[in-house]
Amino acid sequence: MRLDTALSLVSVFAPLALARPWTPSDECPTTIRTRISSNPCAFDPKSLQCTTGKPRFTSMDVVHAALSHCPNITGLDLRVTTTGCTEIPDRWDFPLNPAGGEKYPPLKSLRLEGYDFGTPIPDRFDREAWMFPIPYYWNINFSKDLYWWVPDGTWCGQVATWFWEGHWKTWMQLRAQPRKQKEKTNLGLWLDAMDWSSIEELAFIGETEITDEMIEKLPSRLHSLKMLETTKTSFINALDNNTLTHFKWVGSSKAGSLLWLLEQQGDSLQSLEFRCEELWCSEFARSSDIAILSNMTRNLTHLTTNVPRNGTWPLESLQAIASLPHLQSADLYFHIQSDCARQREDMASDMNRNFKQEYGYDYCKGEDQFQQPFVDKAAADELFAHMQECNSGGQLKNVTFWIGDWKRPWDGALWIPPWADERRSKVVCGTEAKTKEYGWCVVEEGETYWQRRYGGPEYEDEDEDEELDW
Ligand SMILES: *[C@@H]1O[C@H](CO)[C@@H](O)[C@H](O)[C@H]1NC(C)=O
Ligand SMILES: *[C@@H]1O[C@H](CO)[C@@H](O)[C@H](O)[C@H]1NC(C)=O
Ligand SMILES: *[C@@H]1O[C@H](CO)[C@@H](O)[C@H](O)[C@H]1NC(C)=O
Ligand SMILES: *[C@@H]1O[C@H](CO)[C@@H](O)[C@H](O)[C@H]1NC(C)=O
Ligand SMILES: *[C@@H]1O[C@H](CO)[C@@H](O)[C@H](O)[C@H]1NC(C)=O
Ligand SMILES: *[C@@H]1O[C@H](CO)[C@@H](O)[C@H](O)[C@H]1NC(C)=O
Repeated sequence: MRLDTALSLVSVFAPLALARPWTPSDECPTTIRTRISSNPCAFDPKSLQCTTGKPRFTSMDVVHAALSHCPNITGLDLRVTTTGCTEIPDRWDFPLNPAGGEKYPPLKSLRLEGYDFGTPIPDRFDREAWMFPIPYYWNINFSKDLYWWVPDGTWCGQVATWFWEGHWKTWMQLRAQPRKQKEKTNLGLWLDAMDWSSIEELAFIGETEITDEMIEKLPSRLHSLKMLETTKTSFINALDNNTLTHFKWVGSSKAGSLLWLLEQQGDSLQSLEFRCEELWCSEFARSSDIAILSNMTRNLTHLTTNVPRNGTWPLESLQAIASLPHLQSADLYFHIQSDCARQREDMASDMNRNFKQEYGYDYCKGEDQFQQPFVDKAAADELFAHMQECNSGGQLKNVTFWIGDWKRPWDGALWIPPWADERRSKVVCGTEAKTKEYGWCVVEEGETYWQRRYGGPEYEDEDEDEELDW
């Protein structure tokens, strides 16, 4: 998180800390959308804040309980992540019983970010019900610690709890299983617990790793899959050709990635999102990617992509997009940093070079930091009109221009945000009558973004804290 917003975040997240975990006696949800990081109730489950308030899905254990108890859940959107400096989730996968016999509802929509499918049961060291509690001194250096063999109070307590809560039954159950069952990975257990053939919408993003087992076993079960979001090429490759109608790729790509993708799925795609966040990708976009859309897709009605520009309006790219015969709407991402601002950002990590010493104090200041031409209402009106002219199909109704940084706010460890962090603008254009009188477009956010500091006044007094500003 930003240093300067660390404090304000405390108040933003405070209501979350007051959330009580969902229990099977609560009403069943039909969809679950949650971020699992730390569980505020792990240490003091009986505290007031953990027994009152609105039930929430605060840990992997809780989400697993909901999936096991609620037959009507159709959608799960789960992000497992560390946040801040110290907050870690209770676990990275669901605590499916290794002896099997559990049932999840047949989900239609599944989005997983950070989920760990792969670790086989014997490799686990955390507190699984079916593991005998391991004393903390298990891994210490025996020769240095004379008393390593003395069972300590904590461990005795753990064993007592383990016994008391009936975990010994699970433990014995697992011991009695055939070896094939015992060796199942988390994916293997999830495949047994759920009918995957109802899944229409699937996302494997972020830290979620695609294991060989997933490539081997998942695609043949995904009979209903229509929408996929991922940047994992091995998984895309394992699907049948031209089965997806919606595809989303948000992240870096290699030259040729889009061509490769469209060779497999281009004919069936109705909507495509292919882009990278400005602050993640050194190469933000390629005009060659836009050029192949017209001959590699047949039925594209919606497109989301980066449009590269270099100081002039990217009229050729916009024309290529508008010429897609079925296109109805588009979301187009423009970068916000000028070349010198990007160069400064690249140099910022190089301890041996100092941007100001090399280029002078007055270089790359104020408006020079922003990519030209600036996008305002008048410019967007012209771009949209140009696109309408090129759109012989006449179906293009809506175009939204996204300028700058639209990624989700940083929630990792403390960091110093890059200059362009959260600098952005959004201009929405449409043929709807209500905006026509005043032109096609409305600036919804970030008007005259090039004249402002982030969240601050217009540039008038170039002052001392410029150094801090980026
Ligand atoms: C699930 O949906 C069915 C049909 O709509 C309904 O009868 C049932 O009560 C629901 N079950 C739960 C646990 O909400
Ligand atoms: C899918 O398309 C690719 C690229 O056109 C091709 O190489 C591959 O053989 C196709 N796969 C199947 C199963 O048809
Ligand atoms: C479309 O254009 C690209 C790049 O020029 C080319 O590699 C590809 O083979 C073309 N595809 C078709 C179907 O014509
Ligand atoms: C094209 O997309 C429309 C929906 O936008 C769909 O109804 C139609 O079947 C698609 N056509 C082909 C040839 O895939
Ligand atoms: C900028 O891009 C356009 C096409 O997108 C190209 O015609 C022009 O030469 C480029 N200008 C520079 C300075 O690279
Ligand atoms: C265009 O925008 C209007 C108003 O926001 C919306 O009602 C309409 O469904 C959109 N059309 C398309 C094709 O996205």
